[in-house]
Amino acid sequence: MSEATEAPPEESTDAVPGEDSEPPLVVEDLRKTFGGITAVDGASFSVEEGTLTGLIGPNGAGKSTTFNLITGVHRPTSGTVRFHGEDITGLSTHRIANRGLVRTFQIARELEEMTVLENMMLAPKGQVGERFWHSVLPGLRGQVIEQEEELRERAWQQLEFFEIDHLADEYAGNLSGGQRKLLEMARALLTDPELVLLDEPLAGVNPTLEEKLLDRVHELRERGNTFLLVEHDMDVIMENCEHVIVMHQGQVLAEGTPAEITGNEEVVEAYLGGDV
Ligand SMILES: Nc1ncnc2c1ncn2[C@@H]1O[C@H](COP(=O)(O)OP(=O)(O)O)[C@@H](O)[C@H]1O
Ligand SMILES: [Mg+2]
Repeated sequence: MSEATEAPPEESTDAVPGEDSEPPLVVEDLRKTFGGITAVDGASFSVEEGTLTGLIGPNGAGKSTTFNLITGVHRPTSGTVRFHGEDITGLSTHRIANRGLVRTFQIARELEEMTVLENMMLAPKGQVGERFWHSVLPGLRGQVIEQEEELRERAWQQLEFFEIDHLADEYAGNLSGGQRKLLEMARALLTDPELVLLDEPLAGVNPTLEEKLLDRVHELRERGNTFLLVEHDMDVIMENCEHVIVMHQGQVLAEGTPAEITGNEEVVEAYLGGDV
């Protein structure tokens, strides 16, 4: 699903107007209130195919909540999320993941007592059910075993890709901050999603691992993946993203290229204003 197409570019005269022509992810007028708090307040934006799009904004701007609304962790109060033209608003996390849209999750405390490989093997149960399990007819145990083996194979491939295969038998709780982030990425990518939402994947990561992680992201993009990245380090955003969306107080304040965003006075004010 995510391999690059070799076909020559076609003129758009053949393109069918409508659903297929919109960007893979379209968020419209998204709102979420928690009691009296409005975490997301009418956010609208889209993410273009094959991009590494940055989502930035001061603390509390609503970035993580937006990720949770897109991936079904929370149900929006109102607004819509479309993935490839289909309304996925309010679907469960695993149904959304099954369509190829996932976010990274921090390793939960319970999972620290499991090994890295065990963490990988658990990922699809929480994240993707149907693609792996639903197609298996009841009673066909052989097939279940085959799928389990396929999953194990894929888990090893991911661990190798992120260069943490030597840690397969280590307890997740013993990993360094950076190694944990690599495991979180490997888990998110286990089921070969198309669009991956990364929420501060570089937090607490040393420069060497940071470079490795970003290299992997770029490599995956070349293979056809799309990423939406929340990251507070502006240099990382400016150097790696071709498009940047700025959130402030639950709304989209600005959008554009890194250069456009750095030159935007409203954006500068939003960041400085947060401390006033
Ligand atoms: N589960 C929740 N319950 C109550 N308030 C929440 C919850 N999640 C987020 N918020 C609030 O929503 C606002 C936006 O938070 P968040 O989306 O985490 O921002 P960001 O990721 O941009 O820092 C904050 O005021 C935060 O306290
Ligand atoms: Mg956050």
